[in-house]
Amino acid sequence: MTVAEEELATGSESSGGQAQEQAQTHVRLEHVHKAFPGKGRRGTPFTALDDVDVDIRRGEVFGIIGQSGAGKSTLVRLINGLESPTSGTVRVGDHDLTALDERSRRKVRRDIGMVFQQFNLFRSRTVAGNVAYPLKVAGVDRAERDRRVAALLDFVGLLDRAHDHPEQLSGGQKQRVGIARALATEPALLLVDEATSALDPQTTGEVLAVLRRANRKLGVTIVIITHELDVIRAVADRVAVLHGGRIVEQGSVYDVFARPQAEETARLIGTTLRERPSEATLARLRRKHTGRIVSIRIQDRAGLQTEVARVFADHEVAAEIIFGGIGEVQERPVGSLTFELAGEPAAVDAALGALRAEGVDLIEENP
Ligand SMILES: Nc1ncnc2c1ncn2[C@@H]1O[C@H](COP(=O)(O)OP(=O)(O)O)[C@@H](O)[C@H]1O
Ligand SMILES: [Mg+2]
Repeated sequence: MTVAEEELATGSESSGGQAQEQAQTHVRLEHVHKAFPGKGRRGTPFTALDDVDVDIRRGEVFGIIGQSGAGKSTLVRLINGLESPTSGTVRVGDHDLTALDERSRRKVRRDIGMVFQQFNLFRSRTVAGNVAYPLKVAGVDRAERDRRVAALLDFVGLLDRAHDHPEQLSGGQKQRVGIARALATEPALLLVDEATSALDPQTTGEVLAVLRRANRKLGVTIVIITHELDVIRAVADRVAVLHGGRIVEQGSVYDVFARPQAEETARLIGTTLRERPSEATLARLRRKHTGRIVSIRIQDRAGLQTEVARVFADHEVAAEIIFGGIGEVQERPVGSLTFELAGEPAAVDAALGALRAEGVDLIEENP
């Protein structure tokens, strides 16, 4: 740990074993329904969230992905208690937000940091002044404030910009100030709503690295909301896919992106991961390659391709790769390879049978 990290970690919950904390629920939404009056057709209530169940564990980075209008920001406002669900419950730590009055909710909110797309920095204050602001509001004395602001700016890599004003900073730097400010009061939970949507890919990477480090070093639970798949891939442990106010799929980022179950997830992934050739690609491949076509899904399994090559060779089947791609999610491989097979039909069948017996995930692509 660096000096800055030690300074920031004291008093936070990061000192406990992370493995043990992982199993604890930090935020839980049960059967949450949120309707806005008069927004639907003919003035009927508009349903923004429909029967949402989410269980966010202490110490994890939980991603919520969905297109614009899916209900992501509404979900964030339910977690920080700025909105109440029409029905269902929202729990943060030991508190049932739906059962609290506004004053008690405000207390819970003090343990939640917020990071916004538009940074929301004070233009008239310096970088240090922006980070110091929540500490001032919390009544932290001057000397302690200065120490913490220095540690926070060091943590986000902006100590040398302490006396600059926000307008002198790039978008990525502004967002790092936003993160330092959000972390100032040592919240156990950080809500990050489209924090990188206004940034280019390079600065997005810097901001995401800071968030990841805050999670790892300070133990803060992070809920990150985005419409960008790459953001989820880069930082999230688990993910929920929100579509039209409903969670259509959730699980570990690897499982969800390596084997999407819902059509909406597959669409979000699109061609980024080349998880499967599209129908149009397959039609083209079938016209061009008249032999048997099979795809295998890449699994996180050592020697998979060597094994596949050996089985084909043993059965005297010639296998040519005609399509495919391998990418990474959470540093584990995902993707697929499509082969055109040539050989005795019985030998091809035997080879495919042998691969299946070895647990290779095979898809026959001929109609
Ligand atoms: N305060 C509100 N009053 C009426 N409708 C709202 C309100 N907030 C959000 N909505 C509607 O709920 C839907 C989801 O919005 P939002 O949660 O902002 O989606 P996202 O953040 O995924 O883009 C949208 O159709 C939006 O117009
Ligand atoms: Mg939004």
